[in-house]
Parts: sequence; structure tokens; C-alpha cells
Amino acid sequence: MFDNLPNEVTVFEVGPRDGLQNESKHIETADKVALIEAVARAGLKQIEVTSFVSPKWIPQLADGAQVVSALTLPADVSISALVPNLKGYEAAKASGLKQINLFLSASEAHSKKNINKSVAEAINTMKEVADAALQDGMRLRCYVSTVFACPYEGPVSISAVLKVVEGLVAIGVHEISLGDTIGAANPLQVKQVLDALRGLISFERLALHFHDTRGTALANVVAGIESGVTIFDSSLGGLGGCPYAPGASGNLATEDLVYMLHGMGIRTGIDLSSLVEAGALAQKLLGKELPGRYLRAELAARAKACAKVGAE
Ligand code: HMG
Ligand code: MG
Repeated sequence: MFDNLPNEVTVFEVGPRDGLQNESKHIETADKVALIEAVARAGLKQIEVTSFVSPKWIPQLADGAQVVSALTLPADVSISALVPNLKGYEAAKASGLKQINLFLSASEAHSKKNINKSVAEAINTMKEVADAALQDGMRLRCYVSTVFACPYEGPVSISAVLKVVEGLVAIGVHEISLGDTIGAANPLQVKQVLDALRGLISFERLALHFHDTRGTALANVVAGIESGVTIFDSSLGGLGGCPYAPGASGNLATEDLVYMLHGMGIRTGIDLSSLVEAGALAQKLLGKELPGRYLRAELAARAKACAKVGAE
């Protein structure tokens, strides 16, 4: 174990989309913008800033176009948005984005609940959007949800995952992110799925997207690194969830991921203390404590220090 650790990995921040989509408290556009800019200040170079889905399905992110147009970010920060169909694609393109992130599920029941389509219909829709987007010179990522387990069907077979990934490779997406939508996977399963995918897609084009419902996300990242993956999705403060996946909790917290990677000597380009500032802002905006362990520990330590100063 740990013979071939990479020098560097890419952390793909999904908090402003995967995190906020699940929050019932309305967040103002200007506050979303401030949060995304704080994340970028911490050194994140890949940020999924919103989605262009039906506002009836995800009301919190109905202001996607306004968010994108209000952002002021360094030139080396790449932003993107989640897109389910051509309508969403046209809106994302009009907003000026150069990358879109498609999504579909490996399991039928989640596919139906999340986008009202069968898996086969979803692949057809993804192809339709991909054809247009590739023609326009867009960069294309696609999430595969329920890779390890489905909230409605239980365990998902590796052959179902392979079929979807094969379809996406044929469509020509640049990057595929494998989602543990309900945070049920363990490191052995991660290895087994990745072993099955070897040869089908270059691992440089593969990302892993773990929710941390059962506390296995960091262990799963290590399994992914061991198998050769170097792109990991995570969310500020551990925000996140899918409103159409009951039981799903937050994503792996970006701070927890970065803390572990830096400790292992793997560079991310991210400054942890600036990330904690961004996490503190997220807590303030949402009016609640976020689940990320590193963030909670750091903020608790600061609160103690403040109390001490106040007492003197
Ligand atoms: P539908 O109701 O079957 O769609 O929804 P429709 O084509 O019949 O359209 C219904 C209405 O929505 C129409 O408006 C359309 O114009 C409108 P109406 O005539 O009723 O006024 N509409 C749109 N409006 C804005 N933007 C659009 C759009 N498309 C249609 N793009 C649909 C199908 C896919 C639209 C819907 O199911 C949907 O938006 N689903 C998205 C759900 C979602 O965002 N889920 C969370 C993200 S996935 C996730 O979190 C997992 C991930 O993190 C990875 C992991 O963890 O595994 C990515
Ligand atoms: Mg997710």
C-alpha cells in the first residue's frame, strides 16, 4: 500500500451546486456569489457553481444565470454547472460557461425519480446535449449516480455501471465522475468498480464523488488513489445531498479531504485556513453548523481562543 502516491490531485468543488441544492433556506444570489468567490480565494480551481435544471425540481438554484454573470474570479479558475437536457444546455451556454456537467444514474429507479427518464432515455438525452456542446467546443463532464447503491433498488451491479460508462465514452464526454450518491460504498467496492473500468477509460479522465453518509468517504478516496484516480469531488463544510435520493447526506467535506491529502504529502494547491474562512461564511449564510469534521474542529478551537481572550 502507498507505493505510488501521486504528487498532486485535483479537488473539484461541488458545494455551491450539490450542497446548496439540498438546502431549504433560501440563499440570496449575492451570498452565493460571495461564497463561490471565497472558495476560489482558498485555491480551488474547479468549481461547480450552480445547475440549470427545472426550477420546479430544484428551486434553490433557479438563479443560475445571475450567479454566473455576477462572479468575479481569477482567470485560472474553471467554473461549470450541472445540466440535464438541451434546455439547460442552452441556458448554461447563454450564461457564458465553457464547461457543463451532465448527469444520469446507473439504476433505473433513481434515474426515474431524479430526472423522470429511464437510463436508456437519459443516455439518449446526454448524447443530444453532448453533440451540441462538443460542436460548441465545450468541456464536458458527466456524473454517473448510484454507482455503488441506489436508495430505491439497493446494491447496483458493476455490469450496470459498465454499460453506462461505455455509453458515455462513446458519446465523447471528457471526464466521468462516479457518484456514491447515498454514501454507502466501502473501499473494497471502490477497488472492484475501478478494476472493472480499467481499459474502458483512461483514469486521468475519471473522478470520484463520494457522499459521506456513513463515514466511509475518506477511506474510499484512499482506495481511489491506490487505484490511480487523481480527481476527487468534495463540498465545502460537507454540504450536500440529492433531494431525490432519500437518506443521502453531505458530500465528503473539502477541508477533510485537503487535510488528509496534505498530511500524506499530496499537493492540492488549496490553502486550508482560507478554506475554513469560506466554511465559516457558509455556516453564517445557512445559519447552522456544517458537518465537516476539520471545519468544526477549527471553528471550535477558534471559539475557545476567543472565549479565553474575552475572559482575560
Ligand atoms: P420533467 O418534468 O420530466 O421535464 O423534468 P419536462 O421536459 O416535461 O419539462 C417540465 C417543465 O420543466 C417545463 O416547464 C420545462 O420547460 C421545464 P413548464 O412547461 O411546466 O413550465 N424544464 C426546464 N426548466 C429549466 N431548465 C431546464 C428545464 N428542463 C425542463 N433544464 C427534468 C425533467 C430533467 C427537467 C427534471 O427532472 C429536473 O430538472 N431534474 C433535476 C433534478 C436534480 O437537479 N437533482 C439533483 C442533481 S443530481 C445529483 O445531485 C447527483 C450528483 O451529485 C452525483 C451523485 O451524487 O451521485 C450529480
Ligand atoms: Mg452528489
